[in-house]
Amino acid sequence: MSLTLKPRQSVRAKISSLGTYVPPRVLSNADLEKMVDTNDQWITERTGIRERHIVEKGVATSDIATEAAKICLAKRGIEASEVEAIIVGTVTPDMSFPSTACLVQNKIGATGAWGFDVSAACSAFPYSLQIGAKLVESGAHKKVLVIGADVMSAIIDYTDRSTCILFGDGAGAVLIEPCEEGEIGLVDFWHEIDGSGAASLYMPAGGSALPASHETVDKRQHYVHQDGQAVYKFAVRKMAEATEALLERNGIKGTDLDCFIPHQANKRIIMSTAERLKMPEDRVIINIDRYGNTTAGTIPLAMNTAVEDGRLKKGDLVLLASVGAGFTVGATLLRWEI
Ligand code: UT7
Repeated sequence: MSLTLKPRQSVRAKISSLGTYVPPRVLSNADLEKMVDTNDQWITERTGIRERHIVEKGVATSDIATEAAKICLAKRGIEASEVEAIIVGTVTPDMSFPSTACLVQNKIGATGAWGFDVSAACSAFPYSLQIGAKLVESGAHKKVLVIGADVMSAIIDYTDRSTCILFGDGAGAVLIEPCEEGEIGLVDFWHEIDGSGAASLYMPAGGSALPASHETVDKRQHYVHQDGQAVYKFAVRKMAEATEALLERNGIKGTDLDCFIPHQANKRIIMSTAERLKMPEDRVIINIDRYGNTTAGTIPLAMNTAVEDGRLKKGDLVLLASVGAGFTVGATLLRWEI
């Protein structure tokens, strides 16, 4: 039987719209001082965080992802029914199944879309971005919605000072579309995973390894557990290595970049990478002071900060970088085309 094969497509993909959302309620360092044995000075000096946004009870990841998605689509001026695929990067899905992508699809009314969730913790947005871009570059789709969203407050132990000061809730959505004539869009990526670091940052119970039981609840195993120093050391090393490898492969120096948009886990991790890349400080986007670590939400939220500050403009050469639980490592090179 003979097959009629479609010609191989050669399409470039770009981010064509951005929408972000954080819940209105603010949890400040002063608020945390009343909850655990901590203080504003320690949190600010060690992490750079001053406040984070937290959902009200009953608000789930699909809710904040939906808000970000609606803003993203409204800015582009298209209907949800035009979206062909939805990818949600999250470590706090509404539930194990169905996927958060299915829930978002229904909430926004994306009646023509398929989709799925990506589990890659702090690298979930860059990983989802690449998958969305590949769907467009392959010629399969022209409009893919990529969302990074996490309600970290649902899995944080607010009696544990070593983790509860770090995280916040937030979501960001981008639309991926084919580039127009003369546009470059997404250029290249460098991704790595290293599961030997799994126990350094994880939620022990609630999965098939340790299903929920009275014992797991009593032992507080449904919360984030982190060996902060192990993650810190890995993050400092790998964020630099991955970004350097990506830039070198593309013949680019840190000083050639217009904007560095890293995952926001710790200001010290960000600045050590920026220094290694010799990036001028004004090109490094940091908003951890306002939002804390929103896991999959940090990079789109930082993109939005950069746009609002006038530090991210059409044609800018941009580097994204992330390191997180898994371990997962991501670096993305792109031209901003909005
Ligand atoms: O996005 C996911 C990836 N995650 C990360 O990238 C996080 C990476 N790790 C970090 O950012 C840092 O390790 C932390 C911010 C989590 C911790 O900072 P650190 O400088 O590594 O502190 P530490 O864990 O070594 O603790 C130093 C001291 C300890 O006291 P002693 O043993 O020296 O007396 C802690 O008990 O600080 C104490 N401490 C606190 N003190 C006040 C820990 N948490 C707090 C706190 N307030 N919230």
